[in-house]
Amino acid sequence: MSVFEIVNLENFKKVFRNFRKVGPVTTIRYVVSDLLFDWRYQIDTINTAQLDTLEIDSKNKTVGNYYEGTNAYIFQKMISRAEVVPSKSCFVDFGSGKGKALFMAAERGFRKIIGVEFSIELVEVNRKNLEIFKQKTRSNAEFEILHMDASEYAIPADANLLFFSNPFNEALTAKVIGNILKSYEQAPREIWVVHLHPQGNMAFANHPRFKVVHEAREGFVFRLEPR
Ligand SMILES: C[S@@+](CC[C@H](N)C(=O)[O-])C[C@H]1O[C@@H](n2cnc3c(N)ncnc32)[C@H](O)[C@@H]1O
Repeated sequence: MSVFEIVNLENFKKVFRNFRKVGPVTTIRYVVSDLLFDWRYQIDTINTAQLDTLEIDSKNKTVGNYYEGTNAYIFQKMISRAEVVPSKSCFVDFGSGKGKALFMAAERGFRKIIGVEFSIELVEVNRKNLEIFKQKTRSNAEFEILHMDASEYAIPADANLLFFSNPFNEALTAKVIGNILKSYEQAPREIWVVHLHPQGNMAFANHPRFKVVHEAREGFVFRLEPR
């Protein structure tokens, strides 16, 4: 990815938004960690993509949020609050975009890593990025990238870290919560949820079964309470 590909209006807007939200020091931290991530693997995750510019065959397109890769600094800070053993854990990203969170999960040593994304263009970028990532890291994580609506996804029995980086609105999150509870009933286990940038979406925070374990400016970490 060349300098010319990242110097664009959307990236300037992103920097400006962060500057207003978190101030200059944290913004610099975000920018540097984003640049280093793409540079290290020579992949593209920085550039954002608005959903109306993408081909998406789902009635939930209107309640979905645009693609923006999760910042590496925020990811590390929040994911470390979930008390899981990565080498024995299965990470699922709901709305996985270009795959940045999947690669960061692999860096942390997760055994199985699943991305669910409804834009075929983003899935294709993710698959291309994954090939490069695997070549560069020789990661032996088991990856699965699924092209589908995340609210239709039947959560597998071993999934125990469920990641949401502001993919969609509260009503659709409530539907996914139903899928999480169904998966738990079929295979009771410890389930952790990381919900970043909820922006008023309180579906997890207001749900009686999800206990807040950590709360920060960037979002929440929850643990599903046994019934
Ligand atoms: C803010 S981005 C997060 C990207 C990614 N999780 C990461 O951390 O780099 C939100 C993503 O959710 C996807 N998305 C939104 N609604 C979706 C849905 N119903 N099913 C699957 N993907 C969805 C968007 O296309 C976008 O890629």
